[in-house]
Amino acid sequence: MAKQDYDIEGKGPYEGTSFELDTVSPQAPSRGLHRGHPRMDITEGKEQYARKTVFPTPRMEFGWGAHESVGEEANAIGMDDALIVTTGLEGTGIVDAVTDVLDEAGVGSHVYSDVTSNPKDFEVHEAYELQQESNADGIVAVGGGSSIDCAKGVRLVEAHDGRDITEFEGVEKGENPSNLPMIAMSTTAGTGSETTVYAVISDTDEEYKMALGDGGMLNTVAIIDPALHRTMPPHLTAWTGMDALTHAVEAYVSRMGVKSNRAMAIEAIRLVAENLPQAYANGNNEEARENMAWAQYLAAQAFNSAGLGIVHPMAHVLGGVYDLPHGLCNSIALPAAMEFEVPGDPQLFKDIAERGFSVDTSGMTTRDAAFKAVEEVEKLKADLNITQTWQEIGMQEDDLQKCSEYAFEDFCTEGTPRDLDPDTVGQLFMANYDDPWIRYEPEPSRVSL
Ligand SMILES: [Fe+2]
Repeated sequence: MAKQDYDIEGKGPYEGTSFELDTVSPQAPSRGLHRGHPRMDITEGKEQYARKTVFPTPRMEFGWGAHESVGEEANAIGMDDALIVTTGLEGTGIVDAVTDVLDEAGVGSHVYSDVTSNPKDFEVHEAYELQQESNADGIVAVGGGSSIDCAKGVRLVEAHDGRDITEFEGVEKGENPSNLPMIAMSTTAGTGSETTVYAVISDTDEEYKMALGDGGMLNTVAIIDPALHRTMPPHLTAWTGMDALTHAVEAYVSRMGVKSNRAMAIEAIRLVAENLPQAYANGNNEEARENMAWAQYLAAQAFNSAGLGIVHPMAHVLGGVYDLPHGLCNSIALPAAMEFEVPGDPQLFKDIAERGFSVDTSGMTTRDAAFKAVEEVEKLKADLNITQTWQEIGMQEDDLQKCSEYAFEDFCTEGTPRDLDPDTVGQLFMANYDDPWIRYEPEPSRVSL
């Protein structure tokens, strides 16, 4: 493995840094997926993304006890035998409760409970095999983003006669609509996957987490029940809640921003700011749980059409290479990425500070007010006792080049409000590699959390 100097050319607050690393691959691996931010030429229209796309969303049942509607929902869409796709949710009793409700409604259950965090390509195919053997005519996904994304993958594979899920990486790579109706029931308040056209699945051969966007994966019905979210331990509440915040922030500042979706994104940020610490500190706080359930729903609706930014590709890569939790990776990456992005659209970041985090910005310049949004996210992370550096959670500096290149090529980078290149992504990783880069220095706590 050759050593290579990795110079960071001047852009943003990390300019002028350089470091040496082992070269993982002498040639940049190109997956040919990233649409990037090409310079517009004079033959193009005057506006970037002049035409907006608002994607559909499934019908949604929301509220305390909503999980008990799964039987009637299955009947309404003509499901006789359900493939339940889940991690098993051990110790919560949720899977048994769902199969009982389905049984009472006359719907059979075949349970695939081997989904893991950062769902793997082979898990999609194992679940698909069970669907084929059992002749299940519908899917009920029960869990967080991992279970729901795996189930979406099964629908895509089933609609294409068992073709490998890795063939569908990217946007609208499937040709056939799904034949299997699907109900998605979230047990975390973060993913939003139960109402979006996206899934993220690990390609285990390439140690890479693929992002897929396909209208054929959009489930038929979503069920959001805050009672299920109460089963989350505090750290999972924090990580998944920060995932919801990241969806909302990235959608709000996305260069593909859709105004209707911005309204949802800013409300999601406000709800997270006002409720996530309470849900973390007291998991039985019903008001905080319900508000976080709405926050994750609104955030998902926002990014479903507005897209995401560079934070998600960084989290996708670390999920694929090291199997690290998605929400935790987003939490570490978010403040430095926001700091980098502020010059791209300071007014939008000022909005986040003012309307999302209720900061009084009177008398401040737009720029100073915009950077307050970064500080507020750091305060929130401190309240949630979230790890600050990549090194603490296992990232190896040797993998920096590979991680930066893979993240750059993820199609989710497209919404980033500032132009990117792989070097810049490297800087963003290095900003929090072993020494946390933060604007806000919290007072040291007298209590070890
Ligand atoms: Fe996410």
